[in-house]
Amino acid sequence: MIIGVPKERKDREARVGVTPAGAKSLREAGHTVLVETGAGEESGFSDDAYQRAGAEVVGDAGYVWGKAAMVVKVKEPIAPEYVYFREGLVLFTYLHLAPLRELTDKLLETKMIAIAYETVRDPRGGLPLLMPMSEIAGRMSVQVGACYLERERGGRGILLGGVPGVPPAHVAILGGGIVGTKKTRIALGLGAKTTLLDVNLNRLRELDDIFNGRLYTLASNSYNLEHVTRESDLVIGGVLIPGTTAPKLVTRDMVSHMKKGAVIVDVAIDQGGCIETAHPTSLSEPSFTVNGVVHYCVTNMPGAVPNTSTLALTNSTFSYVLRLANHGAREALRRDAGLVEGLNTWLGVLTHRGVAESQQRPWTAAAAVID
Ligand SMILES: NC(=O)c1ccc[n+]([C@@H]2O[C@H](COP(=O)([O-])OP(=O)(O)OC[C@H]3O[C@@H](n4cnc5c(N)ncnc54)[C@H](O)[C@@H]3O)[C@@H](O)[C@H]2O)c1
Repeated sequence: MIIGVPKERKDREARVGVTPAGAKSLREAGHTVLVETGAGEESGFSDDAYQRAGAEVVGDAGYVWGKAAMVVKVKEPIAPEYVYFREGLVLFTYLHLAPLRELTDKLLETKMIAIAYETVRDPRGGLPLLMPMSEIAGRMSVQVGACYLERERGGRGILLGGVPGVPPAHVAILGGGIVGTKKTRIALGLGAKTTLLDVNLNRLRELDDIFNGRLYTLASNSYNLEHVTRESDLVIGGVLIPGTTAPKLVTRDMVSHMKKGAVIVDVAIDQGGCIETAHPTSLSEPSFTVNGVVHYCVTNMPGAVPNTSTLALTNSTFSYVLRLANHGAREALRRDAGLVEGLNTWLGVLTHRGVAESQQRPWTAAAAVID
């Protein structure tokens, strides 16, 4: 199979879908790898490194997309890339389609086979290809929040951990999944008073055990959210209902009652966001202020640390890339029920329930279309 690895086009996105190590393994399995010039540069992988690994490095994105039977990317394609879509081309990348109607339309019109990293499941029901980026975004979100709490950046001028004689900042974490757990570890490590809210009480029990009583846990409901947001210096959103648009847990009214100079980091913004006042921002212009509350809502936070992120991502995605290349999409999907969960569009048919419900469109179960 010819596998295409284009340079990412999203604002300041510096990750790449396949590393030279991956290109070498694909070559050894008999495949051809076409890498766009400079695709790995900002992640620390030179064109030379790809060439030494046996990949062909070509200057033109159109050539990479046009020759490939499968394109492996990191983030969803943006409008200038839609011209490359064609019937039967396999696209393996993060898609986060629920809030992206236009991209969904394009993938369906052009009959692409689109498999989204974020909805692929492992045999235990986990999200193995979302997890590495959630681990990174979770860790980063506290770092970013601490930075925006500085006066210079519009924040309240509070040091997260306080100092002896001065209390620490209060951090509220919404969602206790992968993002939430990583955030908690960093927030507690920096000495912040940390409260985590989740609807899953068993998860709260586990977290209470993991953090040995140092974490305050609360059931997630509007009453508790109203109280916690009023008291918090930093609110970090990381809830997820896989494939669907995130629920708006923090309302505009709650934001209006937050402290001036408090900070919101909405990590769930890639699924539409869990804060009513949030809208997607980019790594170039990451923040804005509503009612004196600083909002940071970057949809591709791991893109800011591309070396770590590319290695972490490709460690997880590569075995799927190799199976898709070795068997072709239809057979690889038939062999792996978890990969089928990742199928979002198949030759003009929408195959993901969550995306369909978020966009109120008809859908067909993936298992039915690939047979
Ligand atoms: N912005 C970025 O760069 C970036 C990077 C990675 C991940 N993410 C996003 O972060 C989000 C979280 O990812 P994850 O891997 O931690 O997901 P996860 O499935 O591991 O955890 C989600 C948690 O949210 C909880 N939840 C669901 N509804 C809730 C509610 N009403 N109140 C409180 N908690 C609720 C679930 O019980 C679960 O514990 C996803 O939207 C993911 O796409 C964003």
